[in-house]
Amino acid sequence: MNQLPLSIRPVSQEDLSALLRLENKCFTTDQLSRRSFRHWIQAENCAFIVAEYGDVIVGYSLIIFFKGTTLARLYSIATDPDYRGRGIARTLMEAGEQISKDAGRVFLRLEVSVDNTAGIALYESMGYQPFGIYRHYYENSDDALRMQKCIRAAGCRKPGHSLDTANNDFYLWAGGIDDGHARAVKKLSTDPA
Ligand SMILES: CC(C)(COP(=O)(O)OP(=O)(O)OC[C@H]1O[C@@H](n2cnc3c(N)ncnc32)[C@H](O)[C@@H]1OP(=O)(O)O)[C@@H](O)C(=O)NCCC(=O)NCCS
Repeated sequence: MNQLPLSIRPVSQEDLSALLRLENKCFTTDQLSRRSFRHWIQAENCAFIVAEYGDVIVGYSLIIFFKGTTLARLYSIATDPDYRGRGIARTLMEAGEQISKDAGRVFLRLEVSVDNTAGIALYESMGYQPFGIYRHYYENSDDALRMQKCIRAAGCRKPGHSLDTANNDFYLWAGGIDDGHARAVKKLSTDPA
């Protein structure tokens, strides 16, 4: 067990090689490319943070901020397989949520493979709610569950309703996941709040 405390810090250019190694260890499909990492490391419209023990990077998360909306999107998160189950992803999520909140974002959204039990358990345990499905979203054709959390209480609506700010649509969701799929997602014609 590593005795050093876990630290969270913003990514830097020097992290590129370590991030590429980590990405290879963590994902068999839909890996972020070197070019993509380079782009997001220097981008300003994102929260890109790494977790490390000493100088060993053991996890990262990348949240993107879109212009003109209150949405933030978790683009990727990963923990080195040798360091899983120690709360690293949870710590990264909490830090990312705080940065997003400080940046004025109200909702944090993400996609996760319907087969990714660890990922779904992580997000559910942190209060993310399913609100839709993207069919054949990943390179291997797996479906993605769409999840969302209101991270800034003042901007949120009643529990059980989600606002799709991109389309101005309102959704009623039944909550929970059945066989990896969000239950009874229904589009409403008006704001239920
Ligand atoms: C998903 C992932 C990021 C979790 O990282 P981690 O650092 O091991 O997660 P944590 O230790 O912070 O776990 C936090 C919570 O997530 C859930 N969780 C994590 N791993 C789990 C597993 N294997 N099975 C079930 N629940 C799990 C639990 O609720 C856990 O809380 P608990 O420890 O109090 O029970 C990691 O497994 C990973 O990198 N997977 C490959 C990449 C990936 O799938 N990324 C997400 C793409 S959307």
